[in-house]
This record gives sequence, structure tokens and C-alpha cells, in this order.
Amino acid sequence: MKRKITLPHTDIEISRVIFGCWAIVGGFNWGPQDERDSLAALRAAYDSGVNCFDTAEAYGGGHSENLLAKALKGERNRIVIASKVGPQDFAGDDVIRACERGLRNLQTDYIDLYQLHWPNPSVPLDETLGALQKLKDEGKIRSYGVSNFGIESLSACRRSGFSISTNQMAYNLLFRAIEFEVLPQCIEDNVPVLCYSPIMQGLLTGKFTDWTQVPDDRARTRHFSKDRPMSRHQEKGCEELTFQTISLIKRISDEHGLDMGALSLAWLLKQQGVGGVIVGGRNADQARRNVLAYEMPDDSALFDELTSITTPLKEYLGANADLWQTDSRVV
Ligand SMILES: NC(=O)c1ccc[n+]([C@@H]2O[C@H](COP(=O)([O-])OP(=O)(O)OC[C@H]3O[C@@H](n4cnc5c(N)ncnc54)[C@H](OP(=O)(O)O)[C@@H]3O)[C@@H](O)[C@H]2O)c1
Repeated sequence: MKRKITLPHTDIEISRVIFGCWAIVGGFNWGPQDERDSLAALRAAYDSGVNCFDTAEAYGGGHSENLLAKALKGERNRIVIASKVGPQDFAGDDVIRACERGLRNLQTDYIDLYQLHWPNPSVPLDETLGALQKLKDEGKIRSYGVSNFGIESLSACRRSGFSISTNQMAYNLLFRAIEFEVLPQCIEDNVPVLCYSPIMQGLLTGKFTDWTQVPDDRARTRHFSKDRPMSRHQEKGCEELTFQTISLIKRISDEHGLDMGALSLAWLLKQQGVGGVIVGGRNADQARRNVLAYEMPDDSALFDELTSITTPLKEYLGANADLWQTDSRVV
């Protein structure tokens, strides 16, 4: 299994297992979190060979960026920091200001990969990409990418003439929506996909055995009923099918004596067009276990079986690549 890739249009080499720095702030979606565990998770990921860390100003209003600086400031030149600017800041001057805030939060003078968090069709993309290019020319960022960009936005990127290095998308065995349109387009455009929520916020570790156990804030995705209190979609969900699929994946992992989460990550790393997996971890143990993805057997029959048993769920949820909304923001 290839463990590193070089981002297009750069000489930046990243580990394909990337540490996701959202859950380490706790709060919305995650609940209480002990800062010592967060710092230990970041350090354990780094010590296990992860060199790339994905964060965003939106994660705890800069707190996630602060934690990353606190844990790994001494390793600055050995790590790759991927951060994001939110769609409310896509006007040219706002992009620049957001980046300055990010640099302060991260206690650094450059961000390696700066990403547009979600599309914002109300601001011309050329203006936003132009601001990113300016930041790159000034050395404040080393490269830029996008996130949650669908077919139209990717097409606007191509037309703009600016070169994006990555597209970050929700992708995992329980959510394969990007396979319909976005992933083939990214392959054609030579834009590697960085997969977020790659273990479906913990569901792919087998920690929940039925849908009633999943906390409401984590049951906001379109797998669950619109009647869940924090839901923002209008769908009836597919809780039975989701949990039948989870139990099939668990059975296969157990039969092969493999860690279910690590196997789910390895399946993603095998998919054409996937650059890396951005996986969260709330403590050192989780962070170390997720790196086991590299150690999974290179067994095509096993990966094909995982593809086949998760296809009914893929067909049910369809091509909408927005995990949370019926009215898709992935445009
Ligand atoms: N661009 C975007 O719009 C976007 C959206 C979402 C996420 N992201 C990025 O992607 C990253 C990862 O996504 P995510 O945090 O949503 O989901 P995820 O990586 O699929 O799941 C992470 C959660 O699963 C649990 N977990 C992790 N490793 C485990 C293990 N080995 N065993 C058991 N449980 C484990 C932890 O929560 P518990 O211990 O509480 O169960 C952890 O917080 C984020 O940190 C963020 O950087 C980006």
C-alpha cells in the first residue's frame, strides 16, 4: 500500500493517512473532550508516521488550529498543515484576512494547503481563487485546494485557469455518493480526493450496534430519519439498511481477524482517485489504530466483497454528495 503522495502542482509530500482535527475540539457533533487527550492524539499520529494534519477555522472558531500549534509546533517543518477558509469569507479581501487569522492561530508563517471549505456560488470563484494565488505568490500558503466541490464548481475551477491540488469530500463504505459523478471528474482533472469522515464518524469501527445508540448530533446524516432532533434533511433515512451493512462489514473483518475501522480506511486507499483519508481520533489509542490502515492485506477479493455488500446502500442514498442535506450544498 502506497503510504505517501505528492500533491499536484507542488513538491509537497503527504502521508495518505491524514489526521483530522475537528473532533479534538469537542462540542458540536462530538460532546465533551479532554484537551490532554487531544494533544496526545496529535502527537501519537505524528509519531506513527502521519505528517499531514487537516484543520479549519470553523473547528472550534480557531481552537483546532491552536491545538495543532500547541502539540506540534516543534515539528513545523516536518508536518504539512492543511487548513480551510469558510464560504462566508470568499470575497478576495476576506480570504486574505481569514488566512492571516489562520496563521496566527497556527503560530506559523505559512499554511501548506489552504482549502475552500464549501462552495459559495454567490461569490465569483475566479475572485476567490485569485486571492488564494496571491497568498501563494506571497509565500503565505504553499498550495490550495477545495472541499465539497461538485461538478459545476469543478468545472468553474477548470475554466478559471488556476490549479487546485485537492478536493476534500465525504467518502466511506457507508457513503459512496461521489462515485456517481464527482470522483470520476476528479480523476479526469487530476485532482486527488481527500476523503473526510472516512470511518463514518465512528460507525465503521462497529462501536454502535444499532441506530438508537447513535447520539443525535452524529445522527444528522441522511442515513438517519429526518425525525432525529438535529437533522437538517427531509428524508426518511435508511437506518435498517445502514446497520445491516455495518454488520456485514463487521462479519467480514472478524472473519479475517482485521480491525474494522482500519480495513474500511484501507478500502478507501485502494480506490482510484483517492489521495488520502482524513481520519479523526480523540485520543492516542484511536490515532495509532487508524494508521493500521497501511498494514491491511492487499487482497482484491476482500476489497471487492466490501464494494459489493455496500452497493445497495450506495444505490439507496444516490448521487447527492452532501452527507447532511437533501438540498445539496455540493454543487
Ligand atoms: N471538509 C469538510 O466539510 C469536512 C467535514 C467533516 C470532516 N472533515 C475533516 O475530516 C476529518 C475526519 O472526519 P470526521 O471527524 O467527521 O469523521 P471520522 O474520521 O470518520 O470519525 C472520527 C471519529 O470516530 C471515532 N474514532 C476514530 N478512530 C477510532 C477508532 N480507532 N476506534 C473507535 N472510534 C474511533 C472518534 O469519535 P468517538 O470516539 O467519539 O466515537 C472520532 O472522532 C475531520 O476531523 C475534519 O478534519 C471535513
